[in-house]
Amino acid sequence: MVSKNGQDNQRRMTMNTKKFSNSQRRSHLKTISAASALCCLLLVKAGAVETTIQSPTYLRDVLPIFMGSCSRCHNQETRFVYNWLDYKTAYADRWEIKRRVWDGWKGTYYKEAMPIANSPESLALTDAERLTIRQWVDGGSPRGVAPTNDSVKTKAERIELGHRLFTICAACHQATGRGLPNQFPPLASSDYLNADKSRAIKIVLYGRQGEVVVNGAKFNNNMPMFPLGDQDVANVLTYVYNSFGNAGLEVTPEEVKTVRAQGPDASVKSAPAAKSVFE
Ligand code: HEC
Ligand code: HEC
Repeated sequence: MVSKNGQDNQRRMTMNTKKFSNSQRRSHLKTISAASALCCLLLVKAGAVETTIQSPTYLRDVLPIFMGSCSRCHNQETRFVYNWLDYKTAYADRWEIKRRVWDGWKGTYYKEAMPIANSPESLALTDAERLTIRQWVDGGSPRGVAPTNDSVKTKAERIELGHRLFTICAACHQATGRGLPNQFPPLASSDYLNADKSRAIKIVLYGRQGEVVVNGAKFNNNMPMFPLGDQDVANVLTYVYNSFGNAGLEVTPEEVKTVRAQGPDASVKSAPAAKSVFE
């Protein structure tokens, strides 16, 4: 328990957007199971990748799983359970995460396996995803994005890989791409997205703050930056451009590289940047 308190302090320092301490959450744990059972959810589930991922890394391989299968209960807003979605906290809690996701599920750890039994997430989590989390922990839990193999040649392959990464975006823009009024602008049939490919690349690379008008509706919020590699940015945006009634464009790693070299500008930073919880 001593180390848990130590982690609590670290969490307080690193997660300044958090409204509740983890000890407050813990005291409310009893209530959550019933509450979560009632809650209905649109499951965010990317296309299943059944092959084993070599040397999984947090941002590319593990965070999408957490976003899809864990973030409904473990997130910044919840007051009941631990929030470890940011890398630092996930790293600090990695052994318990592995025990819950892998050993608990195998029956060799006495505490409840995660995702919690009977939740829609527990039915949807695949063996390959459990294995990816276990390998991430055993492999030293790297944060970064492993060098992507650049064997992706066709647009169809790009879309398939991008679909998996889209779980990250769906946490805010929703699995339907329609966003949420006054909070997250739509990517579905977005005039803003479809008007300018370079600007869209820049937004994924650097995040976006300040006012933006999408399909006639005004938003003024923060999108965090995502430190993804050129391939991944190309793949996820190609997926978005070829889904949700969008223009069908392809984004290549070369284009991302060119835009990255230009650096951030006023089109993405019209207000001071908030610190990304994904850093
Ligand atoms: C339906 C809600 C729900 C979902 C989905 C869920 N959890 Fe949990 N989680 C809980 C609750 C409630 C507790 C506290 C009760 C307990 O300790 O068993 C908990 C506790 C934990 C703990 C122990 C506390 C800590 O932070 O050290 C870990 C680790 C954990 N969950 C990991 C996960 C992972 C990984 C996923 C996704 C694969 C996940 N959970 C999905 C509700 C959920
Ligand atoms: C943590 C929430 C969050 C996540 C995750 C997120 N975004 Fe955003 N996104 C936002 C917000 C908020 C805005 C509006 C920012 C503003 O007001 O300036 C936005 C704006 C955008 C825009 C420009 C407006 C539009 O709707 O066309 C694009 C394009 C975009 N995001 C793409 C993505 C992609 C692709 C991903 C995944 C790699 C992603 N976003 C992940 C919150 C998020």
